[in-house]
Amino acid sequence: MEKLLDCISEEMQKAFEKAGYNPDLGKVTVSNRPDLCEYQCNGAMAGAKQYHCAPIQIAQKVAEQCSDSSVFEKVEAVAPGFLNITLRGEFVKDYVVTMTKEPKFGYATPEKQEKIIIDYGGPNVAKPLHVGHLRSAIIGQSIKRILRYAGHEVIGDIHMGDWGLQMGLIINEFGIRHPESVYFDESYTGEYPAEAPFELSELEEIYPFASAKSKEDPEYKEKAMEATAKLQSGVRGYRALWHHIMNVSVADLKRNYENLNVDFERWNGESSVHDVIPGMVEDMKKGGHAYISEGALVVDVKEETDTKEVPPCMILKSDGASLYNTTDLATIKVRTEEDDPDEIIYVVDKRQELYFTQVFRCARKTGLAKDDTKLRFLGFGTMNGKDGKPFKTRSGGVMRLEYLIKDIYEEMYRKISENKTDDAAMSEEEAQETAKKIALSAIIYGDLSNQASKDYIFDIERFTSFEGDTGPYLLYTMVRIKSILNKAKASGIDVDKVCLQSAYGDADKDLMKQMAQFGACMESAVAELAPHKICAFLYDLANNFNHFYHETKILTEEDEAKKSSYLALLKITLSIMEESIALLGFEAPERM
Ligand code: ARG
Repeated sequence: MEKLLDCISEEMQKAFEKAGYNPDLGKVTVSNRPDLCEYQCNGAMAGAKQYHCAPIQIAQKVAEQCSDSSVFEKVEAVAPGFLNITLRGEFVKDYVVTMTKEPKFGYATPEKQEKIIIDYGGPNVAKPLHVGHLRSAIIGQSIKRILRYAGHEVIGDIHMGDWGLQMGLIINEFGIRHPESVYFDESYTGEYPAEAPFELSELEEIYPFASAKSKEDPEYKEKAMEATAKLQSGVRGYRALWHHIMNVSVADLKRNYENLNVDFERWNGESSVHDVIPGMVEDMKKGGHAYISEGALVVDVKEETDTKEVPPCMILKSDGASLYNTTDLATIKVRTEEDDPDEIIYVVDKRQELYFTQVFRCARKTGLAKDDTKLRFLGFGTMNGKDGKPFKTRSGGVMRLEYLIKDIYEEMYRKISENKTDDAAMSEEEAQETAKKIALSAIIYGDLSNQASKDYIFDIERFTSFEGDTGPYLLYTMVRIKSILNKAKASGIDVDKVCLQSAYGDADKDLMKQMAQFGACMESAVAELAPHKICAFLYDLANNFNHFYHETKILTEEDEAKKSSYLALLKITLSIMEESIALLGFEAPERM
């Protein structure tokens, strides 16, 4: 369906044409003086030079042509030559009614359906998820949903850090603690036990212990590096232990991501491409792109137009070990060969931007990525605490994601327990479910409502508030609508039969105009990979709704047509909100 602003512009362009002017001048924008008019057109100002006359003369002539328009209720020419526009209530109503009959409320999805891989999440196996992983998961998941809504085929790949030193650290430390374990018996040729020799809690204790020790004890670190090399080179016992570590950790990761409504189609990681690396390196050498520099194998990626230095992309270290780069490049190779995507999007901390510039250039130069495959880096900013520094626990440690979610949940549970104004008391089960939903909205909306590339302050108090630009505020608004609709039903109204009428006042008209922005909002959210656009749309919609709600008696309205129209407006607001918050990754409870 055509966007509202485009419909309005077209009507204005016709008026310019009828008045004898270039129709291109008739572009309409939202008014920057909403106290004076709803929309405006500045075309007469631009046309003055072309037509050698005062802009107001053009504006007046154009305004005259608008008198019998079905779109404009009023078009005024004001000095020095602006056109102030007010829409007909009937036109806005018809637009909204058409929206409700169209799939996706009339959002015109892109013509070309693309195949897109999103690389997000990026947790490091055996290290607990911390708040740094929250942003990638939430932003990536939302973008995945938005792109699917636009009709694209989207594959989410978690790209775990599962092949590096942390694995060697764990294996080495485990060996110190359990030297008799069969995994370290090099003469052993039998099957290894199916059950892991440790539980998650032990794994979680081993990693920080080993990591700290390796920083103090160079010999210990050397051993861990050896273990890493042995693992990578395929020593059976080490591989078997690695599988156990993976199984135990991945189950935990899945549980954590599930709590955030985040899922992945692919659970690949750096390890998945291990066997691809030697062939890839050979090709790079043969292609003449990779050369030895100070013992290491590198590919130059700087370009003449660079304003900052872009160092060469290192493929192999001087000891022949592969690096983070190497696995990312090999992953591009595999994705190209197996999926041939139109685009690969990386949702990663923006501090890795230069790194990805190197990787992308190297992939293009060496032909790992096709020329027409878009490689896009979506870097996100840091999640800070109230002190403006990266978010920490109260004691100053790295905050585990699990605990953060739990803190918010508890705060939400406390709030709704206090808030029990509803006549029918909530069961314990409902209270918990509700607290969970609201907590999720607080976390997700708190993150997504900021432009992804910016740093933001994670402020539990603000994010959990039922007022202001927050997830809970949106849910509160939706619950309010649900409650009115339920009361209407209880009073015998068939809410399936309510019927929208042209606006009765400013408040319902403003609400309809805001709804009508849905298509434009989706279009820019998709083009710019910007969930924050949907957040802004929702916040405006909720504000418009609440303004309408406070201005209007709905259930006590005596005029039946009016009441029916108001209830219809409620229903549409609710369904647009439901569809939009689902794209962000949360849902509304029945009451709160
Ligand atoms: N594991 C990495 C880290 O914690 C993030 C992975 C990002 N994705 C990628 N394809 N490199 O920094």
